[in-house]
Amino acid sequence: MNMIIMGPPGAGKGTAAESIRAAYGLAHISTGDLLRAAVKAGTELGLKASVYMDAGKLVPDDVVIGLVEKRLGEADAANGFMLDGFPRTIPQAKALSEMLDRIGRKLDVVINLKVDDDVIIRRIAGRLICPSCGTIYNAYMNMPADGLCKCGGRPARRKDDEPEAVKTRLVAYKAQSEPLIGWYRERGLLAEVESSGTPVEVFAKISDVLSKHSGAGKW
Ligand code: AP5
Ligand code: MG
Repeated sequence: MNMIIMGPPGAGKGTAAESIRAAYGLAHISTGDLLRAAVKAGTELGLKASVYMDAGKLVPDDVVIGLVEKRLGEADAANGFMLDGFPRTIPQAKALSEMLDRIGRKLDVVINLKVDDDVIIRRIAGRLICPSCGTIYNAYMNMPADGLCKCGGRPARRKDDEPEAVKTRLVAYKAQSEPLIGWYRERGLLAEVESSGTPVEVFAKISDVLSKHSGAGKW
């Protein structure tokens, strides 16, 4: 099973992706996580990307396309993958399609998480990420009382979760990423899921969709 999970910033892609990965064993390929790892490692790519990311703008297509192509070639992606945050522009979607053709793979389903802007703002305002293991928390929902991650790290705010950057990210989403909904609907791959309710409820709705697309739910 090869899938995409998409939706606006703060829709809950990363949160749902962790449950999907754990339940279905798909390789979770998040371009945001790959870019943040490059920034943390201080690579040349990371230094360039951080200028765009901190401002809430999209990193140039060729940079992320190269990252995804390399990551798809890794062993854990052979039995199924889940792209999170990619593609984010129509040129990225075209590049993905060409990439998959080249390696003889295909997409089975694209899940689009739907959520209202006021919920997005609240979710992002409360988000904290563990810098050590990447676990996603929310101050309004599941932050441990001692403020520490289960791995011992101290979850912190993402730089691009500051209000100005969030505004820019929402504008970028509507202008550059929202058109992908129609793109994948036209190709018969789109499944829309309301991302309201608790993470457990959202995951249950996603599992319903995945079981329809996978038959027995095993890939
Ligand atoms: P990326 O990391 O992909 O950010 P994003 O798409 O803006 O999405 P987020 O990670 O902010 O939100 P999410 O949907 O994963 O929500 P989460 O699960 O964390 O990209 C960051 C940047 O990298 C981009 O701006 C760009 O610069 C660059 N980039 C990445 N990919 C790129 C690409 N392809 N092309 C170009 N540039 C690219 O949840 C949010 C919060 O809500 C958390 O606190 C969580 O605990 C909480 N929450 C989740 N679900 C629920 C729920 N059901 N109920 C209550 N709270 C919930
Ligand atoms: Mg995310």
